[in-house]
Amino acid sequence: MLQATSSTLQLENLSPFIGTAVHGIDLREPVSDADFAVLRDALNQRSLLLFRGQQIDEGQHVAFSRRFGTLLGHVLTQFLKQQHPEIYVLSNVTEGGKPIGNHKEGWNWHSDLSYKAEPSLGALLYAVEVPPEGGDTLFASMHAAWDALDPAMQQRIRHLKATHSYANYYGKAFADRQPLSDKQRADVPDVQHPLVRTHPETGRLSLYVGQDVVKQIDGLPAEESTALLAELNAHAIDPRFSYRHRWQAGDLLIWDNRSTMHCATPYDDHKYRRVMHRTTVAGDRPF
Ligand code: SIN
Repeated sequence: MLQATSSTLQLENLSPFIGTAVHGIDLREPVSDADFAVLRDALNQRSLLLFRGQQIDEGQHVAFSRRFGTLLGHVLTQFLKQQHPEIYVLSNVTEGGKPIGNHKEGWNWHSDLSYKAEPSLGALLYAVEVPPEGGDTLFASMHAAWDALDPAMQQRIRHLKATHSYANYYGKAFADRQPLSDKQRADVPDVQHPLVRTHPETGRLSLYVGQDVVKQIDGLPAEESTALLAELNAHAIDPRFSYRHRWQAGDLLIWDNRSTMHCATPYDDHKYRRVMHRTTVAGDRPF
């Protein structure tokens, strides 16, 4: 159902707990402060916004992304656009024998840059070319996941911390590739974050976990940590809390990393091309 707003924008929920489609906006044009306030509020409430049919160029993608905050680069600098290094390319396409983007990025459940001391607030992913089947992205609400935990589990984990590790993620996701260089490893040392985080704008709690990137729950014996992590990761991605996005070229999605996890899904990468442009907004330290 479409909801009218105080501006000319119309909002339509995509699933019970997460995701809202925004209608009545052309992102080639500057967004007014009034409309931007509606978007910011909708993002805080719904964690994921969809803008369909946007014919934006790289500069417009970057300009809109900047409204949400400072933009970050990426440790894999070879996949940043030369003209717009704020844009990180995800793709299976090669040109002149070289990949134009990182392939198989995010084919696990994660919250972007959780391996940094200050993980990203959110990301804006623009679909340039998409396969006719496969290559969907799943999003899950970590507010809903937290709310649905039974009170005994909430109490057990409320003050625990976990170690997030890019090296751990990279080693598992890209075992067939050249290992990270010493410099790359030094750029992304392991970090510790709370297992339950507070949204800095709404005060709501959410579960802060992730597959592969979360190496261990600190202070627990290894076996207990592994078992608890597996249990929480499985709970977090229950389809009840999630939304599956089937991409069309021209879709722009923005998600809030402070209250969601997401996971890209495979496609026939021998047959089809997939080219996605992502900008990443700086965030602050989880608490
Ligand atoms: C990501 O940003 O984690 C990848 C999402 C996607 O390629 O669908």
